[in-house]
Amino acid sequence: MTTSFQWCWGLFLSLSLYSIHSTCTDNVHIIYLGINQAKDPLLTTKSHVQLLSMVFSSEQDAKDAMIYSYKHSFSGFAARLNSTQATALAMMEGVISVFRSKTLRLHTTRSWDFMGLALDHNKAATPLQLAYGDDVVVGIFDTGIWPESESFREEPGMGPVPSWWKGRCVKGEKFVPNKACNRKLIGARYYVEGFEQIYGPLNTSENGEYRSARDYLGHGTHTASTAVGSIVKNASFMGFGEGTGRGGAPRARLAVYKTCWSKELDGRCTEADILAAFDDALHDGVHVISASFGVGPPLAPFFASSADIGSFHATQLGVTVVFSAGNDGPEPSLVENVSPWGICVAASSIDRKFSTRLLLDNNLTILGESFNSKQINGRLVDGINYFFDGSCDFEKWRGRLVSGRLVLCFSTLGPVSSGAAALAVLRANGSGLIFAEPATKQAADVDIIPTIRIDVNQGTRILHYLVQSPKVPMVQLLPGKTIIGRSPAPVVADFSSRGPSSIAPDILKPDISAPGINILAAWSPESPPTLLPIDGRSVSWNFQSGTSMSCPHVAGVVALLRSAHPEWSPAAIKSALMTTAYTRDTSVDKILAGGSMKLADPFDVGAGHINPVKAMDPGLVYDMNTRDYIIFLCSLGYTEAQIQSMVLEPAAAMVDTSCPKGHRTTLTHLNYPSITVPNLQSTVTIKRTVRNVGPEKAIYFVSIVNPDGVKVVVRPRILVFSYCKQEISYHVTLTPMKHSQGRYDFGEIVWSDGCSHHHVRSPLVVRVNTTTVVDGVDSISQY
Ligand SMILES: *[C@@H]1O[C@H](CO)[C@@H](O)[C@H](O)[C@H]1NC(C)=O
Ligand SMILES: *[C@@H]1O[C@H](CO)[C@@H](O)[C@H](O)[C@H]1NC(C)=O
Ligand SMILES: *[C@@H]1O[C@H](CO)[C@@H](O)[C@H](O)[C@H]1NC(C)=O
Ligand SMILES: *[C@@H]1O[C@H](CO)[C@@H](O)[C@H](O)[C@H]1NC(C)=O
Ligand SMILES: *[C@@H]1O[C@H](CO)[C@@H](O)[C@H](O)[C@H]1NC(C)=O
Ligand SMILES: *[C@@H]1O[C@H](CO)[C@@H](O)[C@H](O)[C@H]1NC(C)=O
Repeated sequence: MTTSFQWCWGLFLSLSLYSIHSTCTDNVHIIYLGINQAKDPLLTTKSHVQLLSMVFSSEQDAKDAMIYSYKHSFSGFAARLNSTQATALAMMEGVISVFRSKTLRLHTTRSWDFMGLALDHNKAATPLQLAYGDDVVVGIFDTGIWPESESFREEPGMGPVPSWWKGRCVKGEKFVPNKACNRKLIGARYYVEGFEQIYGPLNTSENGEYRSARDYLGHGTHTASTAVGSIVKNASFMGFGEGTGRGGAPRARLAVYKTCWSKELDGRCTEADILAAFDDALHDGVHVISASFGVGPPLAPFFASSADIGSFHATQLGVTVVFSAGNDGPEPSLVENVSPWGICVAASSIDRKFSTRLLLDNNLTILGESFNSKQINGRLVDGINYFFDGSCDFEKWRGRLVSGRLVLCFSTLGPVSSGAAALAVLRANGSGLIFAEPATKQAADVDIIPTIRIDVNQGTRILHYLVQSPKVPMVQLLPGKTIIGRSPAPVVADFSSRGPSSIAPDILKPDISAPGINILAAWSPESPPTLLPIDGRSVSWNFQSGTSMSCPHVAGVVALLRSAHPEWSPAAIKSALMTTAYTRDTSVDKILAGGSMKLADPFDVGAGHINPVKAMDPGLVYDMNTRDYIIFLCSLGYTEAQIQSMVLEPAAAMVDTSCPKGHRTTLTHLNYPSITVPNLQSTVTIKRTVRNVGPEKAIYFVSIVNPDGVKVVVRPRILVFSYCKQEISYHVTLTPMKHSQGRYDFGEIVWSDGCSHHHVRSPLVVRVNTTTVVDGVDSISQY
């Protein structure tokens, strides 16, 4: 007893220490209490006030400090507390965690930091997209919605709002529910209290925001139209990417939860608001949630993070939550949203480019990319030393004009982003920018001034010509063209955050990759396409890049899967996506990792690139049940009493809530569709269970790719299924065959049924750590 008490004390303390800063001012804290025992929301709120009153001198003070009571889908509250009060609450019985409400960022960048993105809008929607979705509601947690966008009108023949739907359209500034909402957009709520606690009252006249679900920034409109946008003919950005715009599940319903607000034209989302959105969305009846935000490492423990807590309860209720991996690549270990129950999405390119020619007066032709729409002729200048101080940064401008000229800049000098260089050229009154950067980063982007991106080699050729040319050379920048058939594609985006997970390296993250470079989708006409205040343009479609864009692609596919297979759990849906993902690009070579142009490994791309058609019919799935999550919570050190208060109705479901005896379990043993062993010291055996979701009679054979220096044995090697939904377990035994420490190696396990063409693939990620090991030494000497 004593030890376990000390353990929970230690847990509380570490959570408290993690989140409670030693400042004297009151901060918004979230108190998480597990499942909602009371069922009646009024009673739940009353119990929250009672609990909070214990750290205040009066009930009234407690009520004044409370910001949200989470009372529908789980239990908890957000309140302004000082650190003494927060620590006192963390010690109280029934409190699972107390943490400060952090501010999260959207996973898109201001476009100047990045390149473009592309979704194949030129094909009409597939039969799959037209067959499924009416019965599925996708919740988008983002900056709101521009409801007048054509992407959110009703598809012809769309049935009435389902009677079980409990959500609603909340009235607000420039948001009239019966005008904004329809059979497509069936829910719209907004959450601003947490934001206002940090940034002060929202001044909508000053910031250009709306105190309603209306989107000012454009990001939420973009992600919503990517996930579920209706079919819109002739969509384009200034003629680029022209085609039929549509989301992944054009027939699915949309419910918008505005949790992110404009702050200096950037999106900020607080954890207090995010948890309130989860509380409502799960009660409203959404089936899928798409959340394109996060906060970079150090990552909080799972139960000191609103996104992880909210998605934990969502999963228990059968709701899939899809997150973006973050835009902090290509360095390792910066991936975000790494819980075993969420889907974490990396970003990759598609096969479209915006090919643009630059002609020099020596007849040299350079190919690059741009969204430039008109021909520009001008003198060529190398801005760096005369116009700018060593770097084409607008802050390094020397005050000299480059009127009518095209300015050559290198990303490597400074270094400088294309956005900062474009602003510099605008400021110096140039007419265009030639931006040379490493080939792995180069793509088109929406710019404030005509900009062609070329690679460093080409830029160097231009510079050498410029330097040795006796007179100032002339150049022509031609209009860009949209070209389908770029190769190789997909390539993992340079910016996409990479694994391994910094807090749970035994669960592979990211899980999967999807398009996130130059994605064309609906936009708020109030928001300039570059997000720069000096950009006076108003557009209804815009290109954006980021894992923010790849996340709703997966959410759209999940909506189709959910509609086609309503009985599948979130874990089964994730399994179907991961085991059918592909790892070879359009040229049938292994997918490359942008940023290095080396082969992508599972830390770049997860299980691979999403393949929606194959995911509909995966053959086998790795499911997880309540017992798996209990074992997971045991591995985090929670007590049985705590676990019982976090797991939904374990008694009714007759689930054993006790922790496995003996040594602490590791996440490697969760029935996850990938296998990761971050510290293989001696032989380890891992069990996995697959369920047959294909034809009732099926025989699967295993094929294995060993990670370097690891012996992999799978038993049995043949799985014989004789009925639907039959479950069979197999064991994977991994033995280190080399001396190594600190290096990851990659392999795979694939189950194939000869005739039906199911290939159920799991990445195998192993780090051998044998320097201090005795076991397995014999085999090493034989190796
Ligand atoms: C925190 O607030 C409580 C109640 O208002 C007060 O008694 C206590 O002194 C405060 N502690 C700190 C460190 O400010
Ligand atoms: C909002 O901002 C405007 C413009 O800066 C200012 O005039 C107004 O007083 C502000 N309103 C509030 C409530 O702060
Ligand atoms: C498509 O849109 C572009 C620009 O938005 C316009 O110039 C063009 O005429 C439109 N084409 C059709 C067929 O409507
Ligand atoms: C460039 O090409 C044109 C037409 O082909 C030709 O007349 C001209 O001499 C060429 N210039 C140079 C510098 O090669
Ligand atoms: C800026 O450049 C344009 C031509 O590109 C020129 O007409 C204009 O006079 C320039 N402005 C200034 C302030 O030099
Ligand atoms: C490798 O094993 C040693 C000894 O058990 C351990 O201290 C170290 O943390 C391990 N390294 C990794 C990367 O797990």
